[in-house]
Amino acid sequence: MALERLQKVIAEAGIASRRKAEKMIVAGRVRVDGQVITKLGTKVDSFSNITVDDEPIERASLHTFLFYKPRGVVSTASDDKGRKTVVDYFADIPYRLYPIGRLDYDTSGLLLMTNDGELANLLMHPKNKVAKVYVAKISGHLLPEEINKLTHGVEIDHYKTAPAKVKIIRSDKAKNTQIVQLTIHEGHYHQVKEMFKAVNHRVEKLARERYSFLDLHSLTSGQYRELSHAEVDRLKQVD
Ligand code: URA
Repeated sequence: MALERLQKVIAEAGIASRRKAEKMIVAGRVRVDGQVITKLGTKVDSFSNITVDDEPIERASLHTFLFYKPRGVVSTASDDKGRKTVVDYFADIPYRLYPIGRLDYDTSGLLLMTNDGELANLLMHPKNKVAKVYVAKISGHLLPEEINKLTHGVEIDHYKTAPAKVKIIRSDKAKNTQIVQLTIHEGHYHQVKEMFKAVNHRVEKLARERYSFLDLHSLTSGQYRELSHAEVDRLKQVD
């Protein structure tokens, strides 16, 4: 198990905010394996016995799952229209999981589910430009200047999208559709659909096939697997 800062572990156990946990440490209220620790930044592992005011703390166990979200499922914990939610797939898991970001009801693909708020905040923070790879079936065929626009940024709702990567996977002349892979580092609402709309193409089908270094390898729609500590640690290093 990775070593973690004492104040973080106390905060994750729900005892106090991280700042208050720091004050508790400095005030000599915290013991690790029986020893009073007053130095901030002291690292502990999952076997360390931690007490605050001589009361053992209940260590939070943090879990993150990689989920292959099916189409026709909402990315919230509950839905006022009674539709199936991503959380419904984790009924047997005894933690309160929530999605890191969202995929639309009609979008399938890779969605991370976690009870680790800090990881979720880290990955969703705009400054940490996590790469997300989507595959879209669009109406019509992209013209070179449209590819250029998507690559350099298009105007959506008063902002310009950051540089993106566009790769044509397949073109169907008869149906006048195209399969396009789009790599973006942002996560605005309906961003992929809006980007194609900005160059006059409609997204008919959308899937996310990659999130950072993770892909859906070996999973089928509706399945999930837990990430290893090594994978979570690698995610924390954000792209
Ligand atoms: N962009 C979209 O338009 N929809 C999604 O579900 C994800 C990204």
